[in-house]
Amino acid sequence: MNSWIITGGTKGLGRALAEELLDFGQGVIFCARTAQDIAHTVDALQARGSIVGVTGTIADPWVAHQLVAQARERFGGVDGIIANASVLDSPPLAPVCELDPLALQSVLSVNLFGALHLIQAAHTWLKQSRRPTILALTSDAAHSTYPGWSGYGLSKAALEELVLTYGKENPEISTLVIDPGDMDTALHQEALPQEPPPSRHAVTVAKALKNLWQEPRPASGRYILTDDPEGLRLQEVSLRVKAVAD
Ligand SMILES: NC(=O)c1ccc[n+]([C@@H]2O[C@H](COP(=O)([O-])OP(=O)(O)OC[C@H]3O[C@@H](n4cnc5c(N)ncnc54)[C@H](OP(=O)(O)O)[C@@H]3O)[C@@H](O)[C@H]2O)c1
Repeated sequence: MNSWIITGGTKGLGRALAEELLDFGQGVIFCARTAQDIAHTVDALQARGSIVGVTGTIADPWVAHQLVAQARERFGGVDGIIANASVLDSPPLAPVCELDPLALQSVLSVNLFGALHLIQAAHTWLKQSRRPTILALTSDAAHSTYPGWSGYGLSKAALEELVLTYGKENPEISTLVIDPGDMDTALHQEALPQEPPPSRHAVTVAKALKNLWQEPRPASGRYILTDDPEGLRLQEVSLRVKAVAD
């Protein structure tokens, strides 16, 4: 059985991805900070397959090592990691002139360093997998200059750089950064409480990502999910700006 580590598996997209992976016969190890939510998630999903929860913040390298240790013990290795857990700035969405460097550090410690801890802890085991995959969830805030979103946006831009560079260094590992678009989740509600919830649901997004554990796999790179008449579709996006001759 292949094993997947998901950061932030109790809510939103992380939870929906855990359900999809279990239904596809994969083993799931996930973390979140709230022990009660972990217990509820394991209770709700264990009938669908093999799932293990680890309590703690992915900002703590020890949690990353625990996730990998559990994957090795229960499934004999690590085949995929999903860097999903994210936080907003605290207080959410401060303009640059009010951005508290300590708050920025705390956003980076989850959104960027969480992925780094997990990649470093899982690297040896990913190299031994027959089908290693890394998926990092990103946002259009990484490449758009939305007022008030600098902390979150730069954490996602740095995450993309980190993960895609790791993919170039390890071409045998399928490495994807995916912007799922606006979804009706707790994170979106926290960021934009005054806006109506988006029509896109985490469960629909997770189903659209099934190619990650089925064949043919998408090539390493950066993707967005676009709405097609048949449903959501992964579309690769190039961020390279071509020089235009005058
Ligand atoms: N929702 C959107 O509209 C949207 C748009 C673009 C991109 N995204 C990206 O999609 C991904 C999923 O977002 P979502 O909306 O599904 O989020 P969500 O509903 O807020 O769920 C986040 C999950 O991560 C866990 N988590 C948060 N901080 C953590 C930490 N420090 N360590 C471990 N687990 C942690 C949460 O549980 P605990 O709170 O118990 O830790 C929860 O299980 C994120 O990377 C986000 O940036 C979302």
